[in-house]
Amino acid sequence: MTQPRSRTVVVLAAGEGKRMKSNLPKVLHPLLGRTLVGHVLAAAEAAVAERTLVVVGHRAEQVTTHLCEIAPTARPVLQAQQHGTGHAVRLAMAAAPQTTGTVVVLNGDVPMLRPQTVTELITAHETAGAAATVLTAEVADPTGLGRIVRDSTGGLERIVEERDASAEQRRIREINAGIYAFDAAGLREALGKLSTDNDQGEEYLTDAVGLLAAAGAPVGVHVAADVTETLGCNDRVELARLRRLLADRVNERWMRAGVSILDPATTWIDVTVELDRDAVIDQNTQLRGATTVAAGASVGPDVTLIDTVVGAGATVLRSHAVQARIGAGASVGPYAYLRPEAHLDERAKVGTFVEVKKSQIGAGAKVPHLSYVGDATIGARANIGAATIFVNYDGVRKSHTTVGEAAFVGCDSCLIAPVEIGAGAYVGAGSVVTKDVTPGSLAVTRAAQRAVEGWVHSRRPGTPAAAAAAAAAAAAARPDGEADHHPDAGGGDPGDTATD
Ligand code: UD1
Ligand code: CA
Repeated sequence: MTQPRSRTVVVLAAGEGKRMKSNLPKVLHPLLGRTLVGHVLAAAEAAVAERTLVVVGHRAEQVTTHLCEIAPTARPVLQAQQHGTGHAVRLAMAAAPQTTGTVVVLNGDVPMLRPQTVTELITAHETAGAAATVLTAEVADPTGLGRIVRDSTGGLERIVEERDASAEQRRIREINAGIYAFDAAGLREALGKLSTDNDQGEEYLTDAVGLLAAAGAPVGVHVAADVTETLGCNDRVELARLRRLLADRVNERWMRAGVSILDPATTWIDVTVELDRDAVIDQNTQLRGATTVAAGASVGPDVTLIDTVVGAGATVLRSHAVQARIGAGASVGPYAYLRPEAHLDERAKVGTFVEVKKSQIGAGAKVPHLSYVGDATIGARANIGAATIFVNYDGVRKSHTTVGEAAFVGCDSCLIAPVEIGAGAYVGAGSVVTKDVTPGSLAVTRAAQRAVEGWVHSRRPGTPAAAAAAAAAAAAARPDGEADHHPDAGGGDPGDTATD
């Protein structure tokens, strides 16, 4: 049995990407859940490599920090000055002199590449026992890219950069994707012979391929089945095009897996998101980062979820959530803002113009309208009336509020933390609660109502209010007007102004 060949991945990420006109290195630009280089490294995992080397140069420190986060086993290799793609690979090979077997080289700016294509390239290369295999594509517009020059037998002869190409060569539409498999020994030898005799005065990796072919070594071509996989990114217009193409790919994948995406054109799902069958994603929706949506949940229209977990059958409508957890059957929005550690248990409701931060909302509990809930624990089936504010900050420190199970907080109340509302307790509407409320009791802090009879008649004469009051008084004075009379509610039921 033959030993499986050792594999090494080299990712080229030292360039500045001048045409991006950005302070951020090109390979760190984000694209639906990963950076450009993050996408390339994810595809490269298919190589199952013994080592992964990433050539860094422009803003090397920043790129290296990012690599530590996303691919801690990848080894950065510094190319202090960017003397070309060949120079970059030469430094990588020098940094890992023990490298044998297959070396897969990937441009750091080709984010659409699929793992499957990397596997196919390697298989084609290793099966043929080639010295080099180049991933190519037939494109409609090859402008700016290296052209594949084939010999009379159809084999690869060399790769010519556009700026070094003859008019005839420029008409070739087969391009170099910047993705290669090499045999380590042949690559090392060819890299040692590179010249800088070209328009840019750089060492071209593409020339290593030409040198191997000229020496009669077996050089193969693997034509990409899907041209979009080979698209590089040089400016922000291309980045936006890639975002569109990648979003289409992601949306299509989820629709084929049983997710309804009602308007794919306005749905942007990061590659890192997970969706279950029968989830429904409505228009203008962004699902980002580690977001997951369980079976039968409905998200959108107009929703952004970042690192948020949505339970089965939950509904999220016109809302924004960051690092939140929305339980099964829960309901959010329209117009809710869930901030980090907003945790809604099953069937909880967070309604219109409600902001929740670092709080647990128990099963079936409701915060239906116009409230701020911060640093709180709300028990199951509790009802928080409209415009209730959890006053969690005294200007110095944040404090916690607990609302017990099935407690009822009347509208327009302030709960001044730290405070505890017991299970089944009531808070009268308009109260400012500063002391704990024992289970089952009622707390009311508002002033008693007083009435100044005839005030409008004497102080606002001639106004529509005065006219309406006079008409009502006349109607009440008629014998048949009795039916319209409402008894004064007096101290009233504090819950009577709560809402549902
Ligand atoms: C390269 C290829 C070209 C191919 C194209 C595909 C060469 C000479 N040309 O051209 O045939 O069609 O990619 O996109 O290889 N980099 C370094 N160090 C350097 C120079 C570049 O790390 O000294 C990195 C860049 O950061 C980038 C990648 O290598 O990720 C490609 O470099 P770039 O300058 O974009 O090459 P192209 O001119 O596009
Ligand atoms: Ca490029």
